[in-house]
Amino acid sequence: MPRVFVSTHPLIQHKVTLLRNATTESRKFRDLVREITILLAFEATADLALSPLQVQTPLDIANGYELKERIGLVPILRAGLGMVNGIWELMPQAEVWHIGLYRDERTLKPVEYYNKLPISPTVQVVLILDPMLATGGSATATVDVLKRWGAGRIKYLGIIGAPEGVKTLSDAHPDVDIHLAALDDHLTPEPQKPGDPPAGFIVPGLGDAGDRQFGTG
Ligand code: PRP
Repeated sequence: MPRVFVSTHPLIQHKVTLLRNATTESRKFRDLVREITILLAFEATADLALSPLQVQTPLDIANGYELKERIGLVPILRAGLGMVNGIWELMPQAEVWHIGLYRDERTLKPVEYYNKLPISPTVQVVLILDPMLATGGSATATVDVLKRWGAGRIKYLGIIGAPEGVKTLSDAHPDVDIHLAALDDHLTPEPQKPGDPPAGFIVPGLGDAGDRQFGTG
């Protein structure tokens, strides 16, 4: 069964609303992406495995824990890049492996342009990072790549999802947990007249997360 988690955390809801606002400028937008990702990662990592670890405190031996598995972060270029630093603040040991995909504007299908994964998997848990789950094509293609690589557990962390994208990803990969900050209403249809937005944008959404982060819109 696919597991889809849409956060109800008040801080996330507050910050996502600021992120959506068209007047939020790039610097603030980047800060919000980083902050929301930290909060999402806190929820998405709640079931990570632990190994026991004893440490010497100034007073005695304490029985504690350390993370058992190696964690890999896979940001989907470009927009996923802005989600890396927030998680690195929580898990500085996490490896980062980039996957480059862009969505063909006409077909809306993902086109892969960068992949430097090593031959064998070096991590046990992979967190895919991409703010937008629109048609779900990019996320599904990334999971395909990671499964062919031999990745064990895979989770997807996104900020805004459309129902179409959630369905596509969870139908294709029901074993991948999906963590979102918000689940929106629908995708824009094919434009009917001049001035209509392009097809495949999340509504109400936040526009183009890559352009808004990198100031290229
Ligand atoms: C956006 C977004 C996702 C993808 C989502 O990237 O960051 O990667 O589209 O769409 P999908 O669910 O329909 O595949 P975009 O292609 O705009 O590239 P960019 O991040 O380089 O701007």
